[in-house]
Amino acid sequence: MQDIYILGIESSCDDTSAAVIRNGVLLSNVTASQAVHEAYGGVVPELASRAHQQNIVPVVDQALKRAGIEPTQLSAVAFTRGPGLMGSLHVGVSFAKGLAASLAIPMVDVNHLHGHVLAHFIKETPEDHHAPQFPFLCLLVSGGNSQIVLVKSYKEMEIIGQTIDDAAGECIDKCCKVMGMGYPGGPIIDRLARQGNPKAYTFAQPHIKGYDYSFSGLKTSFLYSLRDWIKEDEAFIEHHKEDLAASLEHTVVDILMKKLRLAAKELKIRDVAVAGGVSANTGLREAFLDHAKRYKWNVFIPKFSFTTDNAAMIAITGYYKFLDRDFCSMDKPAYSRISAQNG
Ligand code: KG4
Repeated sequence: MQDIYILGIESSCDDTSAAVIRNGVLLSNVTASQAVHEAYGGVVPELASRAHQQNIVPVVDQALKRAGIEPTQLSAVAFTRGPGLMGSLHVGVSFAKGLAASLAIPMVDVNHLHGHVLAHFIKETPEDHHAPQFPFLCLLVSGGNSQIVLVKSYKEMEIIGQTIDDAAGECIDKCCKVMGMGYPGGPIIDRLARQGNPKAYTFAQPHIKGYDYSFSGLKTSFLYSLRDWIKEDEAFIEHHKEDLAASLEHTVVDILMKKLRLAAKELKIRDVAVAGGVSANTGLREAFLDHAKRYKWNVFIPKFSFTTDNAAMIAITGYYKFLDRDFCSMDKPAYSRISAQNG
């Protein structure tokens, strides 16, 4: 059988990434991150699309070189069509269309969130068989999403719970900003939390039915508590930053795991995965390992390089769609929101 080579392209936010897989096995995964946003405390869409324009050609070139293949060997180009920032998506989508047209090969469009979930199927060697069994649950937590996804097959996924306001990563980032600690807050809070007491402070927890989440109340509770404590001690944050970070992280993880436990119990599912940028968090990873022991879950935690946005997850999702001959026509536009996916 002829080898299947898929080039994956990811440009939905502030990472330009390209990856090559052969028959489902990863050959290369190259990512250029954009430091330009740090000074602004968040991603600036205009700057992100400009940086994608600068990065896309060298990143794809590197990915092909590291994979040791020529563009003419590619079977298809898979690309993130949405959701994400429109200006950023346009760069990857247009590049993918141009390349596929010039090579006369099919294109496969990938939903970015499906990509995060299917990151668990990336094989780094042909012998790599550590992947969840269908159906499984995936906690998808990033700067823009907090969802519990029931994954029935490579292409059938049902969101059974999601945040009704802020995402978990957004909440952590905003609380970190309130502390004056920089952006993105996730890795900063994670580092500080390792030296703090997670039970030092108690913050508000939401009471929402079913499997949905809410994080805006926690953010407000954190802000108001800080405001009161600073009245007593101007340098409160500096004196207690480790305990504040640990308590914040503990509360976020507690909220996330409670609903996930409920879903796993009610749906009688033991294979439970985590994906998205916040899955890099040490406290959340520890909670997964703890649940594996306590509730006999089979847990799946991605490698750090596959937690944040990367093209390997786009390439593997594209690979499974390619096997189904589920191709994308040239006239399909990028979409910024899921609801516009069929446009
Ligand atoms: O998936 P991602 O790279 O981008 C999208 O939002 O699509 O996720 C980024 C989020 C940010 O909120 C960032 O602060 C958070 O992931 N994050 C973390 C950690 N590393 C990244 N949150 C907690 N702990 C971390 N170690």
